[in-house]
Amino acid sequence: MAAIKIKDGVYSVGALNPNMRIFDVIMRTDYGTSYNSFLIKSEKTALLETVHERFFGEYIENISSITDPTKIDYLIMNHNEPDHSGSLRKLLEKAPQLQVITTQAGALYLKNITNLPDLNIKAVRDGDTLDLGGGKTLKFITAPFLHWPDSMFTWLESDKIAFTCDFLGAHYCEPRMFDSLVSYPDSYRDCVLGYYNAIFGPFKPYVLKGLTKLDALDAEFVCPSHGPVLTKGVMLEEVKKDYLDWSTPATREHKYIPIFYCSAYGNTGRLARAMADGISETLPDAKVEVLDINANQFTALQAKVNSCDAFLVGTPTINRDAVAPVWQLVTAIDAINTKGRKCAAFGSFGWSGEGVPMITERLRSLKLDVFADGYTCRFVPSDDELSGARDYGKRFAEAMKG
Ligand code: FEO
Repeated sequence: MAAIKIKDGVYSVGALNPNMRIFDVIMRTDYGTSYNSFLIKSEKTALLETVHERFFGEYIENISSITDPTKIDYLIMNHNEPDHSGSLRKLLEKAPQLQVITTQAGALYLKNITNLPDLNIKAVRDGDTLDLGGGKTLKFITAPFLHWPDSMFTWLESDKIAFTCDFLGAHYCEPRMFDSLVSYPDSYRDCVLGYYNAIFGPFKPYVLKGLTKLDALDAEFVCPSHGPVLTKGVMLEEVKKDYLDWSTPATREHKYIPIFYCSAYGNTGRLARAMADGISETLPDAKVEVLDINANQFTALQAKVNSCDAFLVGTPTINRDAVAPVWQLVTAIDAINTKGRKCAAFGSFGWSGEGVPMITERLRSLKLDVFADGYTCRFVPSDDELSGARDYGKRFAEAMKG
């Protein structure tokens, strides 16, 4: 991706990684990602963020197409995770004169990330400014735990641009950089949700604070460090609204209890529906939803498991283990915000039945409130076993009352 002009004197100089399929070990990225970086050229020149070290070549080419790297005065690091700080050492070989601007926490992390004890860093506080001359002044707005303690926004008042690093970003890769030019908006929006779930879901109160700070700026552009630039009147308001909705504590009139399951031959699915009947008999006002994991978007399932009042998860046992889609779901549970949530595992098995106890143990290890030891049956559930599943659902719902 070549450098792209955002506004006069402001350029996108980052790199695309369309082939990335896993980020940070934990996150599937079906549409790759971009490592965004922005260059502000005025009397002084400031660069915002570096890129993953593998993409330094493309990055330095883009910078060089706009300015001589030896003329960069400042590198602003809104957040220092290695996908943004990874090229810093290489950049310093080309631009040893630059001063790094980051938060106090960022300065600490960056020394340990680069192992450069003499790194020229200036730590800034909330509200500090940096005059680049020519009418361009940067203001730094700290935003801790969005999503690291070091996180901040950088605000370019003259151009109404907020640089927010990961906040409002998405692992999504299209080369034209603007939300107005995205070719697959539905895919992009799904990536926004997936990114939120993985990165910001555990930090909802901080997200709300971050949105308040951003709203006060009334930005025309938000430049995150992954995915498209968001524009006022295009997608900026929608994405902010999504973040607001996803982060605001649910005020439900009725309890929401999803039942997730995988079922090779329909047997675990039958147990799921019997349990749903039992729960609905005991809690008639509750919204009970039976969800085949393989028939639903994973990002939507992840949002449900992390926002519900209680849940059950059903797995068959294949080769002495729970099945992979069920493991994927239970490893997507936000352990920070679901502590004490009532849940249970269930499933049909043929031979040895390790799946349900394994998932039960996993749920316990997350410090959820696991009901009994789960419910199992062999092969096809008999009428008695379906009745037992319905009864298990009733007892599960009774326990929610207490
Ligand atoms: Fe894109 Fe938290 O790094």
